[in-house]
Amino acid sequence: MSSSASPLDPTQKVLFRITLPSMWEESLTWLISEHGFGSAIGETSYPLGAVDTDIDAPALGTELRVLLELAQASTFRSALPVWIKDLGVAGEDWSFTEQQHGLEKHFEVSDWQAQWKPFRCGHYVVHADFQPLEDLPCKPGDIPLRLKTGSAFGTGTHPTTRLALKTLQKWCVAGPPPRLLDVGTGSGILAVAAALGGVREVTGMDPDPFSAAQANAMAEMNGVASQCHFWRGGFESAAGQWPAVMANLVADILQIGAGNLANFVEPRGQLLAGGILRRHWAATAQAMAEQGLEFEERIGRGRWLAGIWRKA
Ligand SMILES: C[S@@+](CC[C@H](N)C(=O)[O-])C[C@H]1O[C@@H](n2cnc3c(N)ncnc32)[C@H](O)[C@@H]1O
Repeated sequence: MSSSASPLDPTQKVLFRITLPSMWEESLTWLISEHGFGSAIGETSYPLGAVDTDIDAPALGTELRVLLELAQASTFRSALPVWIKDLGVAGEDWSFTEQQHGLEKHFEVSDWQAQWKPFRCGHYVVHADFQPLEDLPCKPGDIPLRLKTGSAFGTGTHPTTRLALKTLQKWCVAGPPPRLLDVGTGSGILAVAAALGGVREVTGMDPDPFSAAQANAMAEMNGVASQCHFWRGGFESAAGQWPAVMANLVADILQIGAGNLANFVEPRGQLLAGGILRRHWAATAQAMAEQGLEFEERIGRGRWLAGIWRKA
């Protein structure tokens, strides 16, 4: 690569287009950024009438686009199959192409905005902040959930977020808990969905430095800022008890934090713990049982599981 090349010079870039089964795009996006390759843009292809698709609909393909410096391409090309294998996606289920010419249009922000489609999860109609409300084909009883675009985890496309949203809907339809704690709030998607579902007071925290600002902005744009409070920190920074707790994390953090999570739940209150790969279920369930939590229900999507526990 020429040392005098502009960082925005399209001729010094490579575009990788990775096709993989939907539900894996957010995990792969996370791996890509964890390994220092910046942010990938996931573009899920939905058929016409996308807003009627749901977690229970057949899996649809996703295209993930990653724009890289030419110099990064060969490292990325070798690492990609390793990451995808690690996620457990079969060799025949994914593929990628590379493009080195005609990339000018990929420097336009509007390109990915044009591709991003709203989708339904239960009665939540999840849409991005640049999509006007009046363009959403909402049905009576639907709750539009407006996403603040940003880098914190939680666009609603990941199966773990969807499992948690489904549970929230169930809790809220049965009679919203008056207060809810969202551990690892990320973009604030679950917290804001809870407030929109009728929870009067929602509290959330996340160690991600970008999370609190993004979650506050999301609460603001959904008209529930006065019901929500977010701060930067891990679960150990929270104190108190709540009738409903959501912890959509990952299995090892759930196991380490099981004692804290159990303490956060009021007597007769409920905990949703999500982000558990099937192979980590037994150890996570045991950690919860050791804290005296009563197991109520297990829900799943693909390799991902979430559990609901109640405090005696
Ligand atoms: C799987 S994401 C969930 C985000 C969002 N709640 C959702 O459901 O889409 C897990 C989040 O937990 C956060 N996290 C990681 N370690 C944590 C800890 N010790 N305490 C609280 N949150 C943590 C991460 O930064 C990340 O945003």
